[in-house]
Amino acid sequence: MTQTIRKAVIPVAGLGTRFLPATKAVPKEMLTVVDKPVVQYAVEEAQAAGIEHIIFVTGRNKHVIEDHFDHQFELETTLEQRGKTEALAGLRADLPQAGQVSYTRQQQALGLGHAVWCARALIDRSEPFAVLLPDMVMTGDPGCLSQMVAVHEKRGGNIVSVEACAPEEAHKYGIVSMGETHEDGSFEITGMVEKPEKGTAPSNYFMNGRYILDAAIMDLLGRHQTGAGGEIQLTDSMLDLMAQQPFHGVPFEGETYDCGSKLGFLSANIALGLANDTLGPELRAFIKSLDVCE
Ligand code: UTP
Repeated sequence: MTQTIRKAVIPVAGLGTRFLPATKAVPKEMLTVVDKPVVQYAVEEAQAAGIEHIIFVTGRNKHVIEDHFDHQFELETTLEQRGKTEALAGLRADLPQAGQVSYTRQQQALGLGHAVWCARALIDRSEPFAVLLPDMVMTGDPGCLSQMVAVHEKRGGNIVSVEACAPEEAHKYGIVSMGETHEDGSFEITGMVEKPEKGTAPSNYFMNGRYILDAAIMDLLGRHQTGAGGEIQLTDSMLDLMAQQPFHGVPFEGETYDCGSKLGFLSANIALGLANDTLGPELRAFIKSLDVCE
């Protein structure tokens, strides 16, 4: 029998250099897509997948993320006094309950692998856990992590969400090598490489920022081996874990927006704005009025 995935690590300690100057004082995870900060999409996706406890790995200048997932008594009292019950209910519904969220700190942004390792004391060694990169905003029903949990329940092992890219774009991503394909569309992962040299990628499936990992990854990350870009990469330790345990790729059915990049962020705002029941019709009319479409 496979184990339930109860905990998720959401690393939010990166510097967000691709989004400067916006991210000089504001964490990139708090930039807003339509009416919610980017990080909230990841939290809601995790909750929908049955995650009971979220562990944020934060850094300096990120305290506003903690405030976002807490009560704001002055605001709530004012909304109550003004009878704005819908807004108030929305605020409260989004909050993790007491004891369902933990924060730990990555003092230096040494890479994603290092950020995940910073959560080691909060992860039970007998339980697999999820990792969600919050700047990857995903739309899909069921959500990406729910799709992965369903495969994990059937197959166990480690699960990596993947997505196809144009072959000429593969050098920009972490790419997986494909083994046997299963009847549910998932496949065995036999290798992975961060940002392969142009023309050398083993497939065009890239890892899009969602993982279910055996807790043994923490010991491998603890070696602090640096990889691509001089950073402690999650990919390197996953490769080592692959020598001991199976990894399965799950092609994500839905859309992904890389909100750590300016273009991905703008695309997310347009796509999710258009899909929004209240804003969509007027936004569509506005975009049409720009006369930009052929
Ligand atoms: P990115 O790879 O997008 O890195 O991180 P970044 O450093 O934040 O952004 P750029 O490239 O400089 O623009 C993916 C996720 O991992 C977190 C980030 O906060 C982001 O949510 N991260 C990354 C950490 O928590 N610590 C790190 O050392 C690196």
